[in-house]
Amino acid sequence: MSTIAVLGAGKIGESLLSGLINAGHATEKLLFTERHQQRAEELTERYGVRNVDIADAVGQADVLVVSVKPQDIEPLLELIALLVTPEKLVVTLCAGLPTELFERRFAAGTPVVRVMPNTPMLVGEAMSAVSAGTHATDSHLETVEEMLGSVGRVVRIPESQQDAVTALSGSGPAYFFYLVEAMIDAGILLGLPRAVAAELIVQSAVGSAAMLREGEGHPVIMREGVTSPGGTTISGVRELEKHGVRAALIDAIEAAHSRSVELGAKHRSGPSEADD
Ligand SMILES: NC(=O)c1ccc[n+]([C@@H]2O[C@H](COP(=O)([O-])OP(=O)(O)OC[C@H]3O[C@@H](n4cnc5c(N)ncnc54)[C@H](OP(=O)(O)O)[C@@H]3O)[C@@H](O)[C@H]2O)c1
Repeated sequence: MSTIAVLGAGKIGESLLSGLINAGHATEKLLFTERHQQRAEELTERYGVRNVDIADAVGQADVLVVSVKPQDIEPLLELIALLVTPEKLVVTLCAGLPTELFERRFAAGTPVVRVMPNTPMLVGEAMSAVSAGTHATDSHLETVEEMLGSVGRVVRIPESQQDAVTALSGSGPAYFFYLVEAMIDAGILLGLPRAVAAELIVQSAVGSAAMLREGEGHPVIMREGVTSPGGTTISGVRELEKHGVRAALIDAIEAAHSRSVELGAKHRSGPSEADD
C-alpha cells in the first residue's frame, strides 16, 4: 500500500483523504500538509491522519497529491521542487495547470499525472479524468485510478482533452445546480412551499441520474418515456426549444472551454491554443 501525502487539505484534499479511509486505506499511510494549525488539528481529530511539514511529506510519501488552489502553486513548487525525486509520483488536482509546469520544476524523469476532479468528490461521487505527463507510465495511471476510484468514477484521457473535461464535468455540477435552482423557483411560482419544491426536484434529479447511470437507453429514449402525445411534458419541452435552452447549454460549455484554454495558456511553454 502506497503512502499518500495530500499537499493542501482543503475541500477536495479532505474529500480524498476521507474517501481513501472509507475505502480501507490505512491511516498511518496517509499524510497531509496544511497552512493553518487549527485546520490541521481538526483534520487529525476527524480522520486520525498525520499532519506533517512539507519536507516530511515529500520524504515519506510515494504519492504526492497537489491540492492547493492554482494561484497558490508557485510558493508550493518553490518549497518542493528540489526535494522531489523521480521515484515519487506527483498527482496534480489543480485546474488548468499543465503537467509540463511541474515537469519543468522537478528532477528530470519525475512522473506527473494530471487530474480534473469535480465537487461531488465531497459525497464520494466525483467524476475525475486523468492524463499522463511525459514520464508517467500505465502503472502510475493505475495507481491514480485506484486512488480516485475510492471517491467516484475515473476516465483516462489525453492531456489535450483536459480543457474539454474542465468545461463538461469540472463545471458541470454548477449547471445542474443552476437547473435545479430554476426548477425550484418554478415550483414556488406555482404556489408550492420551498421545502416541498426542493424535495420534489432534488429527488427527481437523483432518480433521473440513477436511470441514466443504470439504464441501457439513450437520454432521448428516457425523455420520450415521459413525453406522451398531447400531454403535459411535450408542452413544456416546446417552451424549452422555443427559448433555445439546448443551444444555450452548448454555448455555455463552449464558453467554459474557451476560458479554460485561456487560463491555461500562461502556464504552457510553447505557442498556446489561445493564440491559434
Ligand atoms: N473545488 C472544486 O470544484 C474543484 C474542482 C476541480 C478541481 N479543483 C482543484 O482542486 C484544488 C483544490 O481545490 P479546493 O476547492 O479544495 O481548494 P481549497 O479548499 O482552497 O483547498 C486548498 C487548501 O490548500 C491549502 N494550502 C495552500 N497553499 C498551501 C501550502 N503551500 N502548503 C499547504 N497547504 C496549502 C489552503 O490553505 P488556505 O486556507 O490558507 O488557503 C487550503 O486549505 C485546486 O487546485 C482546484 O483547482 C477543485
